[in-house]
Amino acid sequence: MLEDGKIYLGTSRNPQDELQGPEYLELSLANRHGLITGATGTGKTVSLQILAEGFSNAGVPVFCADVKGDLSGVAMAGKGKDFLEKRAQDIGLEDYEYQDFPAIFWDLFGEQGHPIRTTVSEMGPLLLSRLMDLTDAQEGVLNIAFRVADDEGLLLLDLKDLQSMLVNVSERSKELSAKLGNVNKQSVSAIQRSLLVLEEQGGDHFFGEPALEIADLMRTTRDGRGSINVLAADKLMMSPRLYATFLLWLLSELFEELPEVGDSDKPRLVFFFDEAHLLFDDAPKVLTERVEQVVKLIRSKGVGVYFVTQNPLDVPDGVLAQLGNRVQHALRAYTPREQKAVKTAAETFRPNPDFDAMDTIKNLGVGEALVSTLEKKGVPSIVQRTLIRPPQSRLGPLTKSERAKVVAMSPVAGQYDKAVDRESAYEILAKRAEKQAKAEEEQERLEAEEKARETEARAEARKSRKKSRGSGRQTVAEAAIKSVTRTVATSLGRALVRGILGSLKRGF
Ligand SMILES: Nc1ncnc2c1ncn2[C@@H]1O[C@H](COP(=O)(O)OP(=O)(O)OP(=O)(O)O)[C@@H](O)[C@H]1O
Ligand SMILES: [Mg+2]
Repeated sequence: MLEDGKIYLGTSRNPQDELQGPEYLELSLANRHGLITGATGTGKTVSLQILAEGFSNAGVPVFCADVKGDLSGVAMAGKGKDFLEKRAQDIGLEDYEYQDFPAIFWDLFGEQGHPIRTTVSEMGPLLLSRLMDLTDAQEGVLNIAFRVADDEGLLLLDLKDLQSMLVNVSERSKELSAKLGNVNKQSVSAIQRSLLVLEEQGGDHFFGEPALEIADLMRTTRDGRGSINVLAADKLMMSPRLYATFLLWLLSELFEELPEVGDSDKPRLVFFFDEAHLLFDDAPKVLTERVEQVVKLIRSKGVGVYFVTQNPLDVPDGVLAQLGNRVQHALRAYTPREQKAVKTAAETFRPNPDFDAMDTIKNLGVGEALVSTLEKKGVPSIVQRTLIRPPQSRLGPLTKSERAKVVAMSPVAGQYDKAVDRESAYEILAKRAEKQAKAEEEQERLEAEEKARETEARAEARKSRKKSRGSGRQTVAEAAIKSVTRTVATSLGRALVRGILGSLKRGF
């Protein structure tokens, strides 16, 4: 049943409950994205687990967020449990074996895994505005702050860099408003307040260096298995916006950094987006459109994106239409919205003449799903009622000490664990301010001297009945600012370029 080039998902049954045949996911079409949906407790996480296992065994690295902690079990081999053995028997899986997988644990807060960081510059204004829930006017100001920072080559690494940049922009509001658009001081203060909230939510852990190298999510082991990157998301879920923006940022990083690949026999990375509704919940239209665009284009970079959510209506139509591989677990249908969800879910499948998909969705058992995957030429298979295979790794979480062991043995151990703080906007602006203060002092001294001279001259003039006048030279302060700006800008080389979701493009 285990075939090359395919992941075995489970075995389908006909309405008479007779086994019908194995269901597979074609690896060569796995970058055509997917969807796992179903009410709570119906088997979504286990379906994600067996997919992650299948990809790993096929040499494809995986990234997934572990919302309830139960996915961490992939790092350990499963144990003989009656209901798992029974499931294996029910579906005729004779070579069912327990196996552990090469898991790498990550955690934004650095507690349950390696910390993941990015810089404020890399995240960019679009995602940050979303993260802080800014109004249009505030977003406009944030854009200007980024523009100025990018143009002047000021690196925004962490939140204190952004704070200083905002102070700077506010101080220069007159000059910048004339050039770039209205820098309203009230908006600046509002953004500063949102930044404080973000810090309280733990955002300060996430912004800084060393920033994540995408290549570290794409590791394979020496025996050719793909690593399963598990992001601890239990605490993160308490700040849903941070969770959603973080995953979006990661997606946009993958998109910006990976080169195009033609058709290939398998994806380079598969990205699971659990609790996907958080991504789109009251997201502004422009963001949804860009996500749609990224999802569409990332295919050609060999990345498969799989959304996991309770209700297929959680995913906007434009995205839904691109999800070729589908595992639909049971849905309830009590309320009108639930009935609509069942209808939508049923209608997206290529019908099976043997059963009514709408009825069946309501009556699926736990760990059972309607499955349709893309077949050769990208045509969706006829929907089948499928018993999903049991996982090979542990069902349920690792203990604390098991987790700590995996983290200590990880191939990236030590690489991200300590934060570094190199010179960036905060330091540069602080220096700039210091220089400016000195220059101002100097200016005051010169002016005082000048005054003294003038008084003397006037006295002299009064004496000789002649007038004297001052000159119109460039102020020392002005000259100092210009020269600092120039060195900073040239030391970075050139202004920074931003991609679809506003994150930085590297490699220039
Ligand atoms: N393929 C399967 N084989 C064997 N048992 C399964 C399978 N799928 C689900 N189960 C059983 O059902 C339980 C619940 O499944 P799971 O945790 O995947 O649900 P879920 O849809 O993710 O729920 P939630 O929405 O609450 O996260 C599992 O702990 C397991 O006991
Ligand atoms: Mg779950």
